[in-house]
Amino acid sequence: MIQTDKIKSIVENIPVPGIFRRIGQMNLLKSIEVTDQSVEIVLSSTGLEEESQLWIQNSIQDDIASLAGGLKVKISFVETAPRELNVFGKIIAVMSGKGGVGKSLVSGLTAIALRRAGFSVGILDADITGPSIPKMFGVKDRPSFNANAMLPVVTHTGIEIMSLNLLLPTEEEAVIWRGPMIGKVITQFWEEVLWGKLDYLIIDLPPGTADAPLTILQQVPVSGIIIVSTPQDLTTMIVKKAVHMAATMQKPILGVVENMSYLYVPEIDKKIELFGKSRVDEMARAAGAPVIAVLPIDPALAALCDKGEIEKYDNEIISQIGHKIYELAGVLKQT
Ligand SMILES: Nc1ncnc2c1ncn2[C@@H]1O[C@H](COP(=O)(O)OP(=O)(O)OP(=O)(O)O)[C@@H](O)[C@H]1O
Ligand SMILES: [Mg+2]
Repeated sequence: MIQTDKIKSIVENIPVPGIFRRIGQMNLLKSIEVTDQSVEIVLSSTGLEEESQLWIQNSIQDDIASLAGGLKVKISFVETAPRELNVFGKIIAVMSGKGGVGKSLVSGLTAIALRRAGFSVGILDADITGPSIPKMFGVKDRPSFNANAMLPVVTHTGIEIMSLNLLLPTEEEAVIWRGPMIGKVITQFWEEVLWGKLDYLIIDLPPGTADAPLTILQQVPVSGIIIVSTPQDLTTMIVKKAVHMAATMQKPILGVVENMSYLYVPEIDKKIELFGKSRVDEMARAAGAPVIAVLPIDPALAALCDKGEIEKYDNEIISQIGHKIYELAGVLKQT
């Protein structure tokens, strides 16, 4: 008799047409029943258009037939709510008390670092009024969907992205919604998007410690928070606000990142501290958490972000971030 495990691996390996994912990644396999003469497979139809379902059905039939001819194969689809299919290892939110300090950049670099380390990663762009993740990664495709789910867009290196920018008619469209509407979008990104099985979900939070980031921390079971800051004057106060918010929400702080810490000028082989002396130690003390990274201002990185090619960034800081986060996230609760 053909083994269930063998069938499982066949089914999970079937690619879903047009969306760069396999059945297994999307967590669509519900059950397999094998007898001497037959195989019965139940899949979720979540997020799949009808043609895709047909195509998948035929592929599975063909693959099983070539493995064990003569078996009767029955494949059926059932609807499942996307949130029942979403399985996240760790959910990490990137926060700062202040705008423009590099949250989105740090979210992007964190996702890239973990992806390069071999993990499956998604980014939920929760900055509804100023989404910047798709531009940084150069993704423009619309999320595909059916009646019961929407699928994140996949970047060049396989990071899943969901952002309001991918749904707006044009990239430049301004979002002028009020709080409750924003909350609704976040709920949808959480409940109606099929993320599938991911080792890490990174959440790029909107700036500040007001309503919007609060709503997200209330709605999403975040495992840990990364705090981003720059060496400017008000840093400690701002970090303290973020720390206070994390404590109120009972979310552990994974670590701190100091961004725009210095500018390295190769011609004179000097690091210039444009925004003053590094305050990363002060920040780590205020947060009661370790330092994850100290990032320089890097014009090459800014240029790649502008071109939508952040995934091409080649700097040892990326593997440093990856190692550090992997190590720190080890102690976080699974979601
Ligand atoms: N270390 C860096 N080197 C070069 N450019 C950087 C660096 N950090 C951030 N930038 C650039 O600064 C700008 C602001 O960064 P980013 O969008 O990540 O900030 P943010 O905190 O997410 O902002 P917002 O509060 O608006 O969401 C971006 O154009 C980004 O490319
Ligand atoms: Mg941002």
